[in-house]
Order: sequence, then C-alpha cells, then structure tokens
Amino acid sequence: MDRRTFIASLSAGGAVLLAKADASGIVSEDLAEEVEHMMFEEMQQGQGQAQRPARKTFIEKEKEMTPLPAKPTLEDIFNLRLPKFIFSHCVQSANNALKRGLDEEVILACLLHDTGIALDSPDHGYRGAALIKPYVSEKVHWAIRHHQALRFFPDPDVGYEYPESYYRSFGKEYKPEPYIQADYKYARNHKWYMNSRLVTMMDEYSFDREEVVTLEPFLDIIGRHFKQPKEGLGWDNTESSYMWRTIIWPHRPL
Ligand SMILES: [Fe+2]
Ligand SMILES: [Fe+2]
Repeated sequence: MDRRTFIASLSAGGAVLLAKADASGIVSEDLAEEVEHMMFEEMQQGQGQAQRPARKTFIEKEKEMTPLPAKPTLEDIFNLRLPKFIFSHCVQSANNALKRGLDEEVILACLLHDTGIALDSPDHGYRGAALIKPYVSEKVHWAIRHHQALRFFPDPDVGYEYPESYYRSFGKEYKPEPYIQADYKYARNHKWYMNSRLVTMMDEYSFDREEVVTLEPFLDIIGRHFKQPKEGLGWDNTESSYMWRTIIWPHRPL
C-alpha cells in the first residue's frame, strides 16, 4: 500500500487533507506534518503504543523562516513568503504580458492574479482581489476578481479556449456554479472585460515550473501602480491587513 492510500484509509480527516493538497497543487510542510501527526494518532488508537513525534511550535517554525523587514513591501512578500509555485506562475504570467507590450495595469494584474492561493485555493480570484484592493486601481482589482470566472468560458474571438487542465481538475461534466456563471455574464459585458480576459490569456501559458524568474522587471510598474503602505503590508490597518499577516505568519495556530 503506498503512502497516499495508507493515509487516505486511516480516517476521513486524512482523506480531507489529501483532497485539499490535490486541489491546491500545494503540499505544504504544515499539511505534511498534519497528515503525519494524524497517522500517529490513528496508530495509537489502534495499537496503544506508537510514539508520537515531537511537534514543532509555531515559534520554532517561525525561527526557521527568513525574517521579513519590519515594514514589508510587496517585493518582500513575493521574495520571502509566497510559495515558490505561486511566485513563479505569477511572474511568468506577468512576463508574458510584458513581452506582449500590454498595459501596465494589466501587467500588474497578471503579476498579482493568483496571490490569493497563498491563503487558500477556493475562490482564489475573489480572495486575491480582496487582498490587494486597498493598494491598486479599481481596474486592476476588477481584472483579478473576475479572472476566476472567465477561466471557465472560452472566447474564440481572442483565441481563448477552455483549459485542458480543467478537465483533469474538475472532470469533463463540470458546470461552473451559478455564481460563477452570473459573474461571467456580468464581466463579459463590462467595459473592463478585456483586462480580465488578458489575465486569463497570459495565465494559460505560465505553468513552467523550471523557468527561473525574478521580480526585477516589474519593480518600476509596482512602484507606479501599487500603493505601498508606509507602515508595511500587514501593519497598515486596512480591510485586508489580516490577510497579509496570514501570509507573513503562515504557521500561527490561530
Ligand atoms: Fe487564477
Ligand atoms: Fe493563474
């Protein structure tokens, strides 16, 4: 029996954790540790004697992380806190937009479009938009919020097709939820439709995990279009400060 099958067979909780890992594509250290801990708990119940490994406290885990400056900028969060796969995917999307000579606000939207996944996968477009809302123009916020719905709907006029990978993730028969369909219809007729559509178009070709990318080409655009708070992200008391703190301190138990 392989490890996955073994974990999934232990309990409903184990299966839920695995499903979460599959859906997000991210198996975090925390998740792996949670699964391992659950395994030992189940074994103890079954055998009454297995030794539980010592669990690290969040303080110990934070000591192992690269410290952030006291007033973290977007660049700091990207370089020191975003999971590598999100960093790489977002920067590749923005690179595509830069190469195409797209508008700076579209390039910024591409750069930020999947940062919401650092918090959780479901509704990542809505979450990511809420995360950056206090710091960008309404147009950038709008493009990020609606890219999630637009991903499900082809637009042959601009050569955007339904993503092949969604057949694997959602199944062939999947129909987007009514709120996604409604948001698509709304976005399709909106004056900023193309901004969000371009995010989905740059998105599709940006999953090369081997490509080495940096934030360097985007620092000027960030400087012009992202309102960096003087207190630092997380500490400026906006409606999304708590989300930035979650990214800064991903191990805090509560
Ligand atoms: Fe996305
Ligand atoms: Fe994406």
